[in-house]
Amino acid sequence: MKDKVLNALKGVLYPGFSRDIVSFGIIKNVEVRSGIAAIDAEITTDNSQIIETLKKSIPGAAKSVAGIIDVDLKFTVHKTSETGEVQNKNLAPNIKYIIATTSGKGGVGKSTISSNLAISLAKKYDVGLLDADIYGPNIPTMMGIEGHPITVNGDKKIVPIEVYNLKVVSIGNMVPQGKAIIWRGSLIHRAIQQLLGDVEWGKLDFLIVDLPPGTGDAQLTLAQSVPISASIIVTTPQEVAMGDAIKAIDMFKSLNVPIAGVIENMSYFLCPHCGERSDIFASNGGKKLSKKFDIPLLGEIPINLSIREGGDNGKPISTTDEDTIFDPIAEKLVKAVEEKNKRDI
Ligand SMILES: Nc1ncnc2c1ncn2[C@@H]1O[C@H](COP(=O)(O)OP(=O)(O)OP(=O)(O)O)[C@@H](O)[C@H]1O
Ligand SMILES: [Mg+2]
Repeated sequence: MKDKVLNALKGVLYPGFSRDIVSFGIIKNVEVRSGIAAIDAEITTDNSQIIETLKKSIPGAAKSVAGIIDVDLKFTVHKTSETGEVQNKNLAPNIKYIIATTSGKGGVGKSTISSNLAISLAKKYDVGLLDADIYGPNIPTMMGIEGHPITVNGDKKIVPIEVYNLKVVSIGNMVPQGKAIIWRGSLIHRAIQQLLGDVEWGKLDFLIVDLPPGTGDAQLTLAQSVPISASIIVTTPQEVAMGDAIKAIDMFKSLNVPIAGVIENMSYFLCPHCGERSDIFASNGGKKLSKKFDIPLLGEIPINLSIREGGDNGKPISTTDEDTIFDPIAEKLVKAVEEKNKRDI
């Protein structure tokens, strides 16, 4: 019975977000005795409207469970101003969709895909690119802004670097090059929140967030620090990368972050001389994942020398190719993100 109530509460979205109140950690405890659900909820906010909405929607959801006749809701509110915390606050109210690029395995092409998709999207939309790979930021290299210093404006906000018609922020532009930083959990949370909230992003349609690889604690903290509208899972066709991609899918599912789709990178080899396609791995990892988890296959990207060179030279292929392979993927992505976030509207 307790599980049923908890499940019903997972259907309650935090006002203004596509995430539910359970994955946000607002529900602290649920007990059910003689048909009465005792629910402990705790929230940090100054927004009285959010509090009022939740005070209605939490009992409403619990009462929808058969056998629950009444709800005893203990609702504790911490004011943001008292705690100094900005937890659960919409850090980036001017950003319509935040999209995280992720993979279970390293080196599968997340940063390459994040950069190129951001450039493709920027042909039609206002777009930002946030390098959240605080361990090995390589967006500055890929976007050709390595060594460009970050500036702060009069409101003490970080000013993104503008390149290829988009706004880019990376921790790589804030720390001395080649210097490794050791991050503790709470610091990661703060750092990522600052990269969202303390940046003068302006009004954006899409912010692409390039996450570090893996599904460990650090990635979890990152994913939880950003109000993600949808995620993109990047995989290569091999079974190993697929197994890791499944872990990433599981992680986002448990966080209740919608998955916009999967992109299979280094899918096949297109001979630059004769144009013949060779399916080197021939294991169809992306298609299999898409089918198994019922998520769209946003695209299959070939192994291509120009893609690698573009990344190394700070001029991603999407900036040079008129008819780039990333444009149709970006289009599919927009559709998938809008579809996944319909319930927000
Ligand atoms: N389709 C492709 N064709 C050729 N080279 C590619 C392709 N995709 C990525 N690469 C190259 O593979 C390397 C790894 O790519 P990238 O850095 O984008 O991966 P990543 O998943 O972000 O890695 P990390 O896990 O370290 O963050 C880079 O040198 C990149 O240029
Ligand atoms: Mg990367």
